[in-house]
Parts: sequence; structure tokens; C-alpha cells
Amino acid sequence: MRLNPARQIYGLLRLPGDKSISHRVALIAALASASSEISNFSTAQDCASTLVCLQELGVSIERRDQKLVFAGNQKFVAPERSLDCGNSGSTLRILSGVLAGHDLTAELVGDESLSSRPMRRIIEPLELMGAKIEATDGKAPLKIHGSAKLNPITYKLPVASAQVKSAILFAGLNAEGRTTVIETTTSRDHTERLFNGFGVPVTTNSDLSVSLDGPARFNGGAITVPGDVSSAAYFVAAAMLLPESQLTIEGVGLNPTRAAFLSVLSSWGADISTDDVKTERNEPFGTINVRGGIDRVAGETDRTLSRAMIPSLIDELPLLAVIGSQIPGGIRIRDASELRLKESDRLATTALNLRAMGAEVEEFEDGLLVSGPTPLHGALIDSRNDHRIAMAFAVAALIAKGETQIEGSECVAISFPEFFPLLASIAKQ
Ligand code: S3P
Repeated sequence: MRLNPARQIYGLLRLPGDKSISHRVALIAALASASSEISNFSTAQDCASTLVCLQELGVSIERRDQKLVFAGNQKFVAPERSLDCGNSGSTLRILSGVLAGHDLTAELVGDESLSSRPMRRIIEPLELMGAKIEATDGKAPLKIHGSAKLNPITYKLPVASAQVKSAILFAGLNAEGRTTVIETTTSRDHTERLFNGFGVPVTTNSDLSVSLDGPARFNGGAITVPGDVSSAAYFVAAAMLLPESQLTIEGVGLNPTRAAFLSVLSSWGADISTDDVKTERNEPFGTINVRGGIDRVAGETDRTLSRAMIPSLIDELPLLAVIGSQIPGGIRIRDASELRLKESDRLATTALNLRAMGAEVEEFEDGLLVSGPTPLHGALIDSRNDHRIAMAFAVAALIAKGETQIEGSECVAISFPEFFPLLASIAKQ
């Protein structure tokens, strides 16, 4: 993909459904006692991986008038083939939790990137609950020997991970008694909200623990998935960075554990507002309005993103690093070593590509220091097939001097297949 600088972002958009919510809602619908209808399901390849795995497990899913329809009271069958999770960590980790509570054996495989990511973080708690999991060096392929009756556990998460928390909570549906997950830092809470929204009470306590009492089963029902705020983030950033921009995005998920990106940019002086906020099955969503220009972004204050802020910004950190290169005083990211374990080593890929565009970046084991403001120039971007890196640097390309070429840009389809056409529709030269 070749990209040229833009003058302005202008337009009104609605986006496909949130990826994290879509994975969870598909799993909930597959497990529910009655039928479910999902509208605005994510178009991400990652979510298609979840659907294909469920179909291999014997779950029938129909497409009807742009909706996904799941019959209720479905029974999982032992799959004849390996379940292919593709590039999707959420599919592999959360589905492992579901399968831990089923009396069958299934093998989960992934692409090269997913097969290099750490899985001990789910193997340990799921084995404590009574599943048996074979892995090679703590990595996929994983062979899961589930059990329909698991032991409830109280488990303190060693890393802040919504995927691990969710795997344990899904397994807890088939445990006899109270399953509790204790977090040290709050991670995205879609699982908790959607469990409550579909009839399985989950309590969230002030000590950052979440509990559910098993065995428990979801009611089915209808849901419209809110637009993906992590996809919206790229357009919001582009609008903020290009003066004279005016962008409205309707129907976007505004869950506070996901929308921290918007509040961080607002606190730095960006002109971003939200309105028309409603909720759907406990998930807030609404309209985001952005006016361009970073003149009001005050200079030389300490802009450090660290500690408890990191989990709710985790997928937006490469993009925040790009924005940081344009802000007086730049930004500092710390306590984010988890970024090295994503689809690519996102600290390394962000530093590499920002430097290729002329930015000054210092890399730490757990973060980055990006100086700003620095004019960027067009460059050859190595996405390492990481969708969030390709999209963050497409935004950088709009504010750079000269042409930028993004290698492996088709990887954006992992989370946002419509990214480049939508960007072209709102970016004015
Ligand atoms: C996700 C959680 C995060 C995030 C990923 C999606 C989820 O991963 O980076 O894109 O849907 O729960 P971790 O749980 O590994 O932090």
C-alpha cells in the first residue's frame, strides 16, 4: 500500500462491530440455552476464526439479513480436524477456557505469530480447574482434554490480561461453585458485562476480583455489537493530527476499559467529544466527534503512560507513539512489556518504523520514549504482518512529507478489512 500526505480528515462514519465483543458474543451464543441473533458482528478475520472453530465443534451458525443466527441449546461435538485460530490470540485463549469445560478433546492451532505467543498463562489456571492441556514449550498447538465438571478456583492473574481472565470465567461456567479471578490492574471487562447481560451473574469487587457461581448457562437473545473503538482510534488520531479536520463516528463502543485512548488525548488538549451515549447488554456506545488541530496541546508537560493505564490503552500504544512524535515534549510509555508478546513485538516494530520516518525514539525493555514534535518523512514501513502496526503507520503516512509504502498492508484485515477504503473516503488531499 502506498500512501500520500493528506490535508484534512472529513466525514461521518459507522464502523463494523467490536472485535473483542464479537468473539465473546459468538461464544456466549454457542453456549446459550435459547437462540441468539447478532447484528453488526465484526468483519475481522480474527472473529471469522472464532466462527469457523465453533462450526468445527458442531455449532450451527446461519447468516440471515446481515445477522448471525445461532440456534439455542446446541451440543459441542469432538472436532474431526484441528481448530484453526489463525492469528487470533482471543480465539485461542478464550476458546481454550470454553473447551476446558467440555468432555472432549480438541487441538487448537494458529499461524506462525500465534504459535510463538505465550500460552502458559492459560494452561496453568485451566489445569488447576481440572482440564489437561498438551503444549510444546508452553505454546500452540494446544491439545485440550476437557471435563464437563471442573473445579472452581480463586486465581490471581500474574499478568494483566483480559484474554486469560475471560478463559477462566468461561471455564467457570462448568465448575461446581465459585470461580474468582483477581487482577492487579483492571483489563477490559467485556466478559463480565456480557455475562451479566446474557443471564450469568458476575460480581466485580473493589479488590479487583471478579466471581461467578457455576454451573451456569446463558440465555440467548439479540444484540447489536457496537462499532470497534480500537478501529475508530486510527481515524480519530488522523483527524486530531490534521488541522481543519472534522470527523464524526456513530455507534462506537465507549466501554471505559477500552476508550481510555479518547480521554488521554482529550486530557492532552485534543478536541474530542462524545454524545448520544446508550447501552446494549451493559456495553456503552455512542458518537465520537473530533475537530482537528493539536495547537491546543500544551507543551512540555510530563506525558507518561504507565502502570494502571496500560491495559486499557494496550492496543492503541503504537498509535499513541506515532501521535507522541507530533506533540511538544513527546511521550513516554513504560510498564508495557506485554507489547512484546502481541502479534509482533510492538515496542520493536513501533521504534523501527518511527525511526525510519525520522522520529527520535529510545526503546526500553518495557516501553518507549518518543521525542516530539518531529517532522516525519515518507518511508518503507515493515508491518511485520501486524495489523495495528500497519494502521498506526498509515496514520503517520498522512502527516509525513512524501510517499510512504506499507509492506504487508493486507494484514489490516485481521481486525479491520475496510480500513484503507474508509481512510481513502475521509482523507482529503
Ligand atoms: C483482548 C485482550 C488484549 C488485547 C487483544 C484483545 C481481548 O490482549 O491486546 O487485542 O479480546 O480480550 P491480552 O488479554 O493478552 O492483554
